[in-house]
Amino acid sequence: MQEDNREITIIGFGGSLRKGSYNRMLLKDVQRLMPENSILEITDISKIPIYNEDADNENNINIVNFRESIKRADGFIIATPEYNYSIPGFLKNAIDSVSKPADKNPFAGKPGVIMSASMGMLGGSRAQYHLRQVLTCLDARLINRPEVFINFAPKKFDENGHLTDEMAVKFILELLNKLIQEIRLERSVQIKI
Ligand SMILES: Cc1cc2nc3c(=O)[nH]c(=O)nc-3n(C[C@H](O)[C@H](O)[C@H](O)COP(=O)(O)O)c2cc1C
Repeated sequence: MQEDNREITIIGFGGSLRKGSYNRMLLKDVQRLMPENSILEITDISKIPIYNEDADNENNINIVNFRESIKRADGFIIATPEYNYSIPGFLKNAIDSVSKPADKNPFAGKPGVIMSASMGMLGGSRAQYHLRQVLTCLDARLINRPEVFINFAPKKFDENGHLTDEMAVKFILELLNKLIQEIRLERSVQIKI
């Protein structure tokens, strides 16, 4: 099978809007952990307006840029907080905003992974399962395991924002490698065809 070693670009988003967000810290640390020949670009979703189906969403620059950044990327990573056992409204809003019209849904067929950090014991697991449900509706190709839940987040990062939990780092590396492998496999199949 022919190898395709071109660099892989992953788009990352999520976090929360607050300055000290552990989920943003997690995304930034994942940039350091990306496998060889792959990069993670983090995109800002804070400027996406509250979705209104009557608005001219297809020409809103923040929505257009977000959609295009997902389309251009080979895959995506979402790091989400858990708000009241679910996905934070701003993240769901951003995803909804690019999901319509359906033929422009950038998640369709796109490989991706999700992770979460929370101050609580369950590490944001309930938000992740809701997010999986939403991304399944949008036909994203999620790599399901290992699941990455960073619980008790304030205790899991050092002063440089690096994860100190070895098990969490191990799971993240495993998940990232599976994502990159999936993308490389897909590319090699395309070359064959
Ligand atoms: C509105 C709100 C609801 C929350 N609900 C939950 C929750 O259901 N489960 C949980 O583990 N943490 C919950 N938290 C705490 C968050 O996990 C914590 O604030 C976390 O640090 C948020 O992520 P961030 O650091 O990226 O901002 C909630 C926080 C807020 C502000």
